[in-house]
Amino acid sequence: MKFETAAGPNPIDRLNIVGQPTDRIDGKYKTSGTAPYAYERHDIAPDAAYGYLLGSAIAKGRINSMDTTQARAAPGVIAVVSTLDMQPLPLSEHNTAHLFGGAVVEHYHQAVALVVAKTFEEARAAANLIRVDYARVKGKHDLATLAPTAPPDKAESPEKENENPITRKGAFEAAYAKAPVKLDARYTTPDQSHAMMEPHATLARWDGDKLTVWTSNQMIAWAKKDLAKTLTVPEDRLRVISPYIGGGFGAKLFIRADVVLAALGAKAAGQPVKLTLQRPLVANNTTHRPATIQRIRLGATRDGRLTAIGHDSVSGNLPKGDPETATAQTKLLYAGANRLTSLRRAVMDLPEGNAMRAPGEAPGLMALEIAMDELAEKLGMDPVEVRIVNDTQVDPEKPERPFSQRQLVECLRQGADRFGWSKRSAKPGQVRDGQWLVGMGVAAGFRNNMQMKSAARVRLDSKGVVTVETDMTDIGTGSYTIIAQTAAEMTGVDLKDVVVKLGDSDFPVSAGSGGQWGGNNSTAGVYAACVKLREQVAQKLGFNSGEVDFAGGKVRAGNRSVSLRDAAHDAPLVAEDGIEYGEKNEEKAQQSTFAGHFVEVGVHSYTGETRIRRMLAVCSAGRILNPKSARSQVIGGMVMGAGAALMEELAVDKRFGFFVNHDLATYEVPVHADIPAQEVIFLDEVDPLSSPMKAKGVGELGICGVAAAVANAIYNATGVRVRDYPITLDKFF
Ligand code: MOS
Repeated sequence: MKFETAAGPNPIDRLNIVGQPTDRIDGKYKTSGTAPYAYERHDIAPDAAYGYLLGSAIAKGRINSMDTTQARAAPGVIAVVSTLDMQPLPLSEHNTAHLFGGAVVEHYHQAVALVVAKTFEEARAAANLIRVDYARVKGKHDLATLAPTAPPDKAESPEKENENPITRKGAFEAAYAKAPVKLDARYTTPDQSHAMMEPHATLARWDGDKLTVWTSNQMIAWAKKDLAKTLTVPEDRLRVISPYIGGGFGAKLFIRADVVLAALGAKAAGQPVKLTLQRPLVANNTTHRPATIQRIRLGATRDGRLTAIGHDSVSGNLPKGDPETATAQTKLLYAGANRLTSLRRAVMDLPEGNAMRAPGEAPGLMALEIAMDELAEKLGMDPVEVRIVNDTQVDPEKPERPFSQRQLVECLRQGADRFGWSKRSAKPGQVRDGQWLVGMGVAAGFRNNMQMKSAARVRLDSKGVVTVETDMTDIGTGSYTIIAQTAAEMTGVDLKDVVVKLGDSDFPVSAGSGGQWGGNNSTAGVYAACVKLREQVAQKLGFNSGEVDFAGGKVRAGNRSVSLRDAAHDAPLVAEDGIEYGEKNEEKAQQSTFAGHFVEVGVHSYTGETRIRRMLAVCSAGRILNPKSARSQVIGGMVMGAGAALMEELAVDKRFGFFVNHDLATYEVPVHADIPAQEVIFLDEVDPLSSPMKAKGVGELGICGVAAAVANAIYNATGVRVRDYPITLDKFF
């Protein structure tokens, strides 16, 4: 189905089932331990052997030699695969360092060997017997020293046009020079790790020359294509299955060493192999959110109107890696005639930097939204008002493009009202609660909404059951549930009569889970397939498809009513279709999502410990398909934002080039006790340009802006402005 704008009668608009706070369908399986993860598929391969990965002990250099003799002779060992056994495996489209093969080491903990043994313990013990002789080369590991000379990055491909590294509008320098009120400040964000619950894991089984992998991956079609390329196996001999995923956050957008080495190990062992990246390998072996150094320059009139907006960001990455697109929101969030953004990248020898929840906007807003707070203070204006005064309803770089929907002002006004913002002291350091200094902070949230092609297959059987198949994944976000709601609404059957099957490359290719595009696009694909099924049903039952209503398990037109089951009494009806968006859509309007984030903190006046006391998010994000699962996404994002503000940082060993705190004991993330009252409000909104669902992304919006709201609240509490995240207590003194 080609989509331009949703007009005319649309069964989704009834909102009998879509838009309801349905419980997660997979919730009971996940919470009772009965949702099998990749590493737990004993049913499929009871004879699976265990793999154990050895990661490189250097960040850069070569392997002179590897002695695997003792490992091969160790108890239980079935096979050992060394990186020296083969040439570097081809790089896929999405990987920026080699996952395996060859003597060259590109980053710390890059996979260099795999041991396959009868038990996990035997594999681990044998891996520790491998002796590797490295020739270490000194690498570049310190962003602060590399940043000054990092060149502007270049946009390498058309799909990165949005991420054009330098954008200009008007005359920034001149406008900034003569602005009556100015701010010029530098902010830093650290490297961060996804820290998802389930580490990357795969069970691989060869059946002749056919390979099936049960893995933990957000993007099935990408995984299949990338695995085919990496292993040089034709795509039609591969099957990728990932029905349950214990968190992704971007870490599982792309295939990683677990899937490649499980496949190689299974081949070498002549039996299925399962392999999980041991937790201490995840941070350095896989991807992370790269650190940034950002400079923001704001020029404004005395009444608070921005006349100049400049945002430069520099981040590091491996030679084939991209810069963190931390200027993305600055192009679109506020009005202002004179604008400049630039992205620079320093080539570094740290592990692969790549997407982590709201890549670009999440770290970009950490800087921009402190800057707006600082500007408000210089102006003597309320920080909510400064943002409202600078609202824009059009793309400020291309004013002919309006936003499809944009209720940022309403988010801020409602949020301020609800949060009791009027009680905030404009002067910092004034409010005490016992030994705690108390403050409030605000930030705007912004995240783009992306349109992605997505397909599905639906089947109606003689029992009136509708089965949906799509390669969409559910990374804990609620995909199963909103897809079931969509199919039930479209076909007029009960939710209990919908079966949703996800995460299998044998199913039609969906949008997958990433960039908060999964919810809107995957359901739109299901919508398209259901439209086709409705036509088939109507035709089979002799209805004129134009006037037919599907409800209560029945098909009706005029006073004729037939059970849906009758349409499939002799044979199931199967329909397959997808949603496709024209390029015109992009030109017509800018689709983004907005939030107002409000935070109250207490900072202990003796110790400097920060405790979040209250959080509120008001979101403008199109139609909310399921307010319960959407709220879960947003509060999860807020927790992650609290982590970014106060705790999360991969500590770089600048001599040897690795992340030191590479486990969950030392990489700090918030726990329940850190998170107090959280409230989420969704503004009433439908976006007819986004899809027939009229929804938008919301899963990443939740994190965007939160850390800055925390930082601003800390400033309001203490009068100490910290511009380097995370805001740990040592930075107050
Ligand atoms: Mo998201 S970082 O695109 O999974």
